[in-house]
Amino acid sequence: MDSCISKQSRIAITGASGFLGQHLVKALTNAGYTSLLCPTHGDYDLSMPNDVRRFYSEMRPQIVIHLAALVGGIGANQSHPAEFFYSNASMGLHLIEQGRIAGLTKFVCVGTVCAYPKYATIPFTETDLWAGYPEETNAPYGLAKKMALVQLQAYRKQYGFNGIYLLPVNLYGPGDNFDPSSSHVIPALILKCQRAINAGEEFIEVWGTGSASREFLYVEDAAKGLMLALERYNSGEPVNLGSGQEISIRDLAHKIAVLMQFNGKINWDISKPDGQPRRCLNTQMAEREFGFKASTSFDIGLANTIEWFRKNYDPGSGGVK
Ligand SMILES: NC(=O)c1ccc[n+]([C@@H]2O[C@H](COP(=O)([O-])OP(=O)(O)OC[C@H]3O[C@@H](n4cnc5c(N)ncnc54)[C@H](OP(=O)(O)O)[C@@H]3O)[C@@H](O)[C@H]2O)c1
Repeated sequence: MDSCISKQSRIAITGASGFLGQHLVKALTNAGYTSLLCPTHGDYDLSMPNDVRRFYSEMRPQIVIHLAALVGGIGANQSHPAEFFYSNASMGLHLIEQGRIAGLTKFVCVGTVCAYPKYATIPFTETDLWAGYPEETNAPYGLAKKMALVQLQAYRKQYGFNGIYLLPVNLYGPGDNFDPSSSHVIPALILKCQRAINAGEEFIEVWGTGSASREFLYVEDAAKGLMLALERYNSGEPVNLGSGQEISIRDLAHKIAVLMQFNGKINWDISKPDGQPRRCLNTQMAEREFGFKASTSFDIGLANTIEWFRKNYDPGSGGVK
């Protein structure tokens, strides 16, 4: 464990009530951290500079793990690109600047795989992060979050500010967002299968051609990776957090249909975008620098996700409680 952190450190987790946040709080609590601070969006709108100042003066964190973000799938990114840019860029900008003024000992920033160039060489390696423009549908989101990396590197150079930056691939697991207007592909497919089963429908319709590929990291593994980086990593270079396993959206849809016991057809709506053509991370740096290696198999992770979904699904509303 670094000298800048102890189990009693006052650690604020922005976005603690979100999908990743809830799992991270659980992992840190189980590991014995006793002074976790969990500001909610209702307490502070972290895209507003005055709220960020108030957050630092009222909560007095020593370390910030910044997870809060406006997040969504391709549709949400396409329909709200300005909000995705503004909200995410301004949160990073103000939290880092005010965190420097407040004298934080460490700032852990969670970025996204959406920051990678659209056609980055597979597997995506951290040194290729600036080798091109991101895929258009998620560029405002990916670039807004990527600016925090630039800011942290500049602050490290000029002020010696200890900020680290992690790049998680697509996450999934229990507690994911199942709201169809903003969900990612795995919860969207699970919900579609469930609704089709309930309605006795013979097919589901899925966006795109199915040829794009994605990599998925189980959310508990992501929380473990974040905790290891918090405890062991103190360098300005960004680090991927992933499982290193790539799957096509077509294979993913079939896998989920089988696990959900949906026996109908999958129709591909090719008028809708595929998003980034391929996604698969080189995960060696995380293993080398702070000993992180994803351990949950995709089949087990999906089974756990579906089990959680079934416990929380409300057939009346057609959504998750
Ligand atoms: N999920 C993924 O697949 C994935 C992949 C790569 C990286 N990430 C990154 O991981 C982090 C967590 O993602 P997630 O999936 O857990 O997202 P999430 O479930 O949507 O949680 C985001 C959290 O941020 C809060 N928030 C949003 N805007 C805020 C604001 N202006 N002020 C204060 N709080 C605000 C939200 O509160 P409200 O809900 O109350 O608005 C929520 O608690 C994000 O930084 C995301 O970019 C996620």
